[in-house]
Amino acid sequence: LTTATLPERLEAALVALGPPTVRCAAALVDVADVHASHPDEAAHVAGAVLRRRAEHAGGRTLLSRLTGAPRPIATDGQRRPVPPPGWVWSLAHDDDVVVAVATTDPEVLALGVDVEPFRALEPAMVRIIRRGDDADLDPLLLFVIKEATYKAWSVLGGRLLEHHDVRVCAGDGEAGTVRAIVPSATDGAEFHGRYSAVDGRWLALVIARSRSASSSLSRAAT
Ligand SMILES: CC(C)(COP(=O)(O)OP(=O)(O)OC[C@H]1O[C@@H](n2cnc3c(N)ncnc32)[C@H](O)[C@@H]1OP(=O)(O)O)[C@@H](O)C(=O)NCCC(=O)NCCS
Repeated sequence: LTTATLPERLEAALVALGPPTVRCAAALVDVADVHASHPDEAAHVAGAVLRRRAEHAGGRTLLSRLTGAPRPIATDGQRRPVPPPGWVWSLAHDDDVVVAVATTDPEVLALGVDVEPFRALEPAMVRIIRRGDDADLDPLLLFVIKEATYKAWSVLGGRLLEHHDVRVCAGDGEAGTVRAIVPSATDGAEFHGRYSAVDGRWLALVIARSRSASSSLSRAAT
């Protein structure tokens, strides 16, 4: 029997997904965060419904808590929250929760996180998400891994991607581990992903590592 709250369980799951150098946090979507948010942050979602304003503010509250970043946290032209120098970070929300990850680890070039509540997807949506050569995973999980990959890819300056632009391959044999690649990318960009199921949600954390870290990882795997 556990008495941990949903955010505590999500936070623990995220910690288990990442290397120790990645800080993780989770919180419920809470309208109180809207009142605490900076007007410059709120301006980005001024016309949105209250729940959207709450998740936006909640994400920034978590990022600031994780990193000490002063508010307001700026948003760039690609909708990305702008981290302080030396940090990389990512956030995601579903209807109930906000999750965030951040690190100053120099071997981590970019992070991507995503969370989605379990649901069945229409066959047409599955076709949009799944490539023929993707790992044999639940389509919603593939979606979550691909969205997290896109966030990390975008932080590295990558273009807008379709789901079919990302191939999800089996990882190094460890359960819950995948590699995501963008086959059309000339530099062979590769992302390391880990996922788990928490309270009826898929949670994925994707990391782009520096080339030196990636090659030492693959050496370790052979
Ligand atoms: C970025 C994107 C994946 C976010 O997905 P979402 O379901 O809208 O929302 P999530 O809760 O998962 O994540 C939203 C957060 O991601 C972050 N984000 C938004 N755009 C981002 C980008 N280009 N790069 C990195 N992070 C981004 C923001 O922090 C955002 O929250 P905020 O607006 O409150 O600050 C989506 O909006 C998007 O731009 N998709 C187009 C590309 C795509 O999905 N291709 C298919 C997969 S390869």
